[in-house]
Amino acid sequence: MMQQAVEAGVRHVPGRPIYQLRNVSRSYGAFRALTGINLDLTEGSFSSVIGPSGCGKTTLLKIMAGLAPPSTGSVILNGRPVMGPQRQIGMMFQQATLLPWRTAIDNILLPIEIRDGRQAARAHRDDAGALLDLVGLKGFENAYPRQLSGGMAQRTAICRMLITRPEVLLLDEPFSALDELSRDNMNLELQRVCLARNATAFLITHSIPEAVFLSDTVYIMSARPGRFSEAVTIDLPRPRTLEMMTTPEFGAYVTYIRNRLDEGAAP
Ligand SMILES: Nc1ncnc2c1ncn2[C@@H]1O[C@H](COP(=O)(O)OP(=O)(O)O)[C@@H](O)[C@H]1O
Ligand SMILES: [Mg+2]
Repeated sequence: MMQQAVEAGVRHVPGRPIYQLRNVSRSYGAFRALTGINLDLTEGSFSSVIGPSGCGKTTLLKIMAGLAPPSTGSVILNGRPVMGPQRQIGMMFQQATLLPWRTAIDNILLPIEIRDGRQAARAHRDDAGALLDLVGLKGFENAYPRQLSGGMAQRTAICRMLITRPEVLLLDEPFSALDELSRDNMNLELQRVCLARNATAFLITHSIPEAVFLSDTVYIMSARPGRFSEAVTIDLPRPRTLEMMTTPEFGAYVTYIRNRLDEGAAP
């Protein structure tokens, strides 16, 4: 049965637990930014979060990454409580934040250099080149960030995230500054990498089509205090294709989620 599911490209095969969040909340003084978050992510799953500005999405991601503590509740990653930054996590943000004085390849190698030193980074040059190749940037190894377009910089940032082969990807609106065409290509790229590496991904996005395209589950958040109001299972086969985005099934998911978000935003 499992084999069939794999052949069909479906990823709803229950994998081992990666993340377990229990009753996570976060307050800033008297202000409750997040409340009652329960979340289970299994290996190889792709989940997205969508919700209004300020509903606590980035706060949640930082707590999952170990960059900020929750006020209450627990975060378990691979069976261990998250107490600080984690090696097995790769992160990506809205801005590519490449270092302007380093070439594309040296930006990609930075996490290895920080973790294991310069010599180790040199030993990964071929890996970094292969990643650039994978995202269509062959020949840009020695380009500086100012010579790259926004989309190219973001693709370089993807390579930098992937160079350490993270099992878990935490993504905070990584493609929101891109034009629609680049964004579609980045989504295809991200799906390909996640499928190839069986990575577990958690994406914050403002784009409903992007969430539907990439996800097994879309979590809808509402604000004040920030919480999950609904989890929508996206039952579309994988790998997803751009053509699928024009099907009635895809459109129905988008419409459903849009309506739920509108209801949440109403006073
Ligand atoms: N360090 C902080 N101190 C005080 N308030 C904060 C802090 N970080 C976030 N907030 C508040 O918490 C709420 C959630 O913020 P955030 O997680 O960034 O939301 P989102 O990413 O969904 O837009 C917002 O109202 C924000 O102003
Ligand atoms: Mg945010």
